[in-house]
Amino acid sequence: QLDELEFNTVQIDQHGPIAVLTISRPGALNALNAETLSEIARAVDLIVEDAEVGVLIITGAGEKAFVAGADISEFTQVQSVYDGRELALSGQDVMSRIAGLPIPTIAAVNGYALGGGLELALACDVRVAAGTARLGLPEVGLGLLPGFGGTQRLARLIGAGRALDMMLTARQVPAEEALGMGLVNYVADDALTRAREVAELMLRNAPIALSLVKEAVRRGLDTSLEAGLEIEADMFGLATATADFKEGVDAFLNKRRPAFQGE
Ligand code: CAA
Repeated sequence: QLDELEFNTVQIDQHGPIAVLTISRPGALNALNAETLSEIARAVDLIVEDAEVGVLIITGAGEKAFVAGADISEFTQVQSVYDGRELALSGQDVMSRIAGLPIPTIAAVNGYALGGGLELALACDVRVAAGTARLGLPEVGLGLLPGFGGTQRLARLIGAGRALDMMLTARQVPAEEALGMGLVNYVADDALTRAREVAELMLRNAPIALSLVKEAVRRGLDTSLEAGLEIEADMFGLATATADFKEGVDAFLNKRRPAFQGE
């Protein structure tokens, strides 16, 4: 059982097809230290291996923070350009693993999502923010820049102009403004409850189709329109070879709800 696994700084709660990964470092606003990053990576691997899980929600413990960034107290260990680069690569690796998951992922942003915390939310497919959430990339105030994917994923999501404004001012963007700029998809009183509702909508659909949508969008963002359209056609072809495609069409034509098997 996933929720019986022992971790120090993360917790997994699984109810049927929805797994919730909660980052929990009380006293540090859930900041990501080396242990938390490796526990997230291990937890995510285990969640994906579990065939029962269809959607992963990531959130932070407590009301104040989703994740307030990389753990700044560990930055004193960075002694060289090599160390700095390695720190970025290790964080990027975890975020890329999340971004590359075959199942949909939702960040339930329940408070501060700053620096590495926003980068974690950006690695997810969909973001749901509590009305009190504040999102930002304040690294330049520490003499740094975002290093866990923020410079790349934020600009791709909301455009270079808005991303540069956020990164150069280091300002915290409130939830409603984040909604307006497409940085989050939903604002709700209770981010986790809304995230579960969004997960339920996703779970009505064919799992392989969901993973192919993700792959088409992710790979398409790295390429030209022409090459992206080819990727889309390839993924479309793969979808038509699934039993769930036959089931979806048959269910529509016979005016019944489809029963997808993920095959
Ligand atoms: N790392 C380590 N500890 C952190 C932390 C972080 N990123 N963020 C908060 N904490 C700790 C604080 O040090 C404090 O600990 P103590 O009680 O032991 O002093 C505790 O969490 C509570 O924080 P505050 O007292 O600061 O709470 P506040 O309400 O006054 O302020 C805040 C909240 C605005 C989020 C503030 O904590 C803050 O600015 N945090 C840092 C945000 C930040 O700069 N994040 C980016 C980190 S760099 C990064 O992420 C690089 C990258 O891309 C990989």
